[in-house]
Amino acid sequence: MIDFKALAQKYGTPLYVYDFDYMTAQYEELKSAFRGRKSIIAYAVKANSNLSVVKHFAKMGSGADCVSIGEVRRAFLAGIPAYKIIFSGVGKSDDEIREAIERDILYINVESEAELGRVELIAKELGKAARISIRVNPNIDPKTHPYISTGLHDNKFGVDLGTAKRMYIKANNSENLDPVGIHFHIGSQLTELEPIREAAVIVADLVRSLEALDIELKFFDVGGGLGIKYKDEETIKPYDYAQAILSTLTGLDMTILCEPGRFLTANAGYFVTKVLYEKQNGEKRFVVVDGAMNDLLRPSLYNAYHEIEALTQTQEETRPVDIVGPVCESGDFFAKDYPLPPLNHNDLLVIKSAGAYGFGMGSNYNTRGRAAEVAIENGKDRLIRKRESFDDLIALEQEFLED
Ligand code: LLP
Repeated sequence: MIDFKALAQKYGTPLYVYDFDYMTAQYEELKSAFRGRKSIIAYAVKANSNLSVVKHFAKMGSGADCVSIGEVRRAFLAGIPAYKIIFSGVGKSDDEIREAIERDILYINVESEAELGRVELIAKELGKAARISIRVNPNIDPKTHPYISTGLHDNKFGVDLGTAKRMYIKANNSENLDPVGIHFHIGSQLTELEPIREAAVIVADLVRSLEALDIELKFFDVGGGLGIKYKDEETIKPYDYAQAILSTLTGLDMTILCEPGRFLTANAGYFVTKVLYEKQNGEKRFVVVDGAMNDLLRPSLYNAYHEIEALTQTQEETRPVDIVGPVCESGDFFAKDYPLPPLNHNDLLVIKSAGAYGFGMGSNYNTRGRAAEVAIENGKDRLIRKRESFDDLIALEQEFLED
């Protein structure tokens, strides 16, 4: 049991709290699901990029899936070895590609023919052969929220099968490209196995047709996407997930690479916020808290559900309430019509499943400093990011102030 009251008193609110032991358990469950086959779990740094979190996974042997050179640098800083770092994303700049090649990471996930051309050119300038993988868009409906669906031709990600094949042939004939992997990622918060299996079948078939052309790939990169329980979702068990993927790889001796983010961190995280006021607008009840959409954007952006627990002495019955923050937007809410008892000034609300895409999607909107972050490990708490001060927020502007 985490003592949120004590933590709020010690570190202030709003506050992110991460249970590192939970992250360990999730990592180990997934890793062992692939037992018997070579595999790399490459933690998707975007889910929660705090250096201490990335380091925690590094210590367990995790790799890193990065989508910017900033994330690549974080992975290195956290101690993840170059040979376990991959770099994905539809829009890598020349500078990012150059640095990734110079740092000799495991591979770059290429997402278009044009990008392959840039990678080849930059590798040539550096006198190197860049290891690459190609992100295939298998045109599969992952049956998740449209904003986090990525494996349909309507989405900007990856290339279709025909293009991928052409790109592999080109890469195989180039002195400056070394095709080592194949990648797909059809979406996030996936709760159905079948779309993943279908995508894996399509991609494995492509691997076989490339083998027939003497193009041998080593890494079968299945992306991330494993869903978690926010409310009452039926989720995919890691063992079933692994079996579904492995069943498509008969005859192929490839290392599995998988890029989980949410699965590893979401339910390890809590966002703790303090009640400021209750108010009533006509029939409508509101509770105003000190956290806001700039801290945790998911409810505003995706209408996402997060379970909320009120730490209060009141014993009265719950009534529906909108939980809102101080930001000047009607979209600044954590929940609508959520059943909570009457609340008092300084009561705490604990917003759950906030360890993935929480702090990382935060902003300084309304000149609000970002929350502090705290880790809990073996029953001990420690600060892993300071609360942002006003001085932090203005630091990059101040020197340009004119008299
Ligand atoms: N690999 C790639 C190429 C990805 O694009 C993503 C997530 C992952 C791995 C990790 O996916 P995960 O295992 O976490 O599902 N902000 C949204 C989620 C965006 C996911 C973007 N890509 C949310 O809050 O639900």
